[in-house]
Amino acid sequence: RTVEILGVPMDLGADRRGVDMGPSAIRYGGLSDELDAIDQATADSGDVTVPRPESGDPDAGDTLGGKAKYLDETRTVCKRVAERVRKAHEAGRFPLVLGGDHSIAIGTANGSTRDQSTGIIWFDAHADLNTPETTPSGNIHGMPLGAILGRGPFDGKEWAHCPNVDPSNVAMVGLRSVDEGEQKYIQDSAIHAYSMSDIDEHGITTVTQNALDAVLDDIDQLYVSFDMDFLDPDEAPGVGTPVRGGISYREGHAALELVYREAAEILCALDMVEVNPILDRQNRTAELACELAASALGKRIL
Ligand code: ARG
Ligand code: MN
Ligand code: MN
Ligand code: MN
Repeated sequence: RTVEILGVPMDLGADRRGVDMGPSAIRYGGLSDELDAIDQATADSGDVTVPRPESGDPDAGDTLGGKAKYLDETRTVCKRVAERVRKAHEAGRFPLVLGGDHSIAIGTANGSTRDQSTGIIWFDAHADLNTPETTPSGNIHGMPLGAILGRGPFDGKEWAHCPNVDPSNVAMVGLRSVDEGEQKYIQDSAIHAYSMSDIDEHGITTVTQNALDAVLDDIDQLYVSFDMDFLDPDEAPGVGTPVRGGISYREGHAALELVYREAAEILCALDMVEVNPILDRQNRTAELACELAASALGKRIL
């Protein structure tokens, strides 16, 4: 399958400007060369159009009864992403979606799960399970997994909620910053949560294998959403919400190499998000995103 590269220069869902330059930084970091080197055919279909924050009021319009900055604009962008992703699937291509802040995963998920029951692995320091009611920040990049699962006011919202994704087929890996409302959902739902403590105790390979085993029953396909803040800020300083105590360089690769080994056939889409070149050191985080994408798509050391 040809990998279709789709950039989403989105920063409306995050507090820090600069993450809109993520797709450029990743392309500049050598994404197509990395994929060429493993004989993976690619087609770059450019960027999705994103409104500039200067042209909107973050608090105007719909907020789904809580706090959700730029919700109207975010909905518009996510619908565009979903449409482009859906077309990629129709053309028999594999969408590789470059962020941009993590809110764009709502688009990837909606464009990928229309008629297939889907599992998700969410590699992230954060749970991204907030809703406009539980969010401490009002930033939608803290809500995409909550939106996809139809949590709270997202329930039944067709641009967000993916009914073909059951919480029991979703695993989060790398957690080390979880808000109170997210904790509650993790306790009360069937979602699988693997924290850094689990990784300390069992190692990244066992934890990733457990996550795969937990989600892989009874699904047609697997979608992987990868937030660069999964990695330790020493490895990936170019992210808007870094959290210490993260994944090492090799652990990041090991996790994605395992995903490929165990689930390549059913892998349906991949996001690489939250790269912020303004906060980065010499494009290190973007270059790492390219390498990690290659590992997820089949790169091997030997
Ligand atoms: N939990 C925090 C919030 O809701 C931080 C979320 C960070 N999310 C991300 N995709 N980097 O605001
Ligand atoms: Mn995160
Ligand atoms: Mn399960
Ligand atoms: Mn995230």
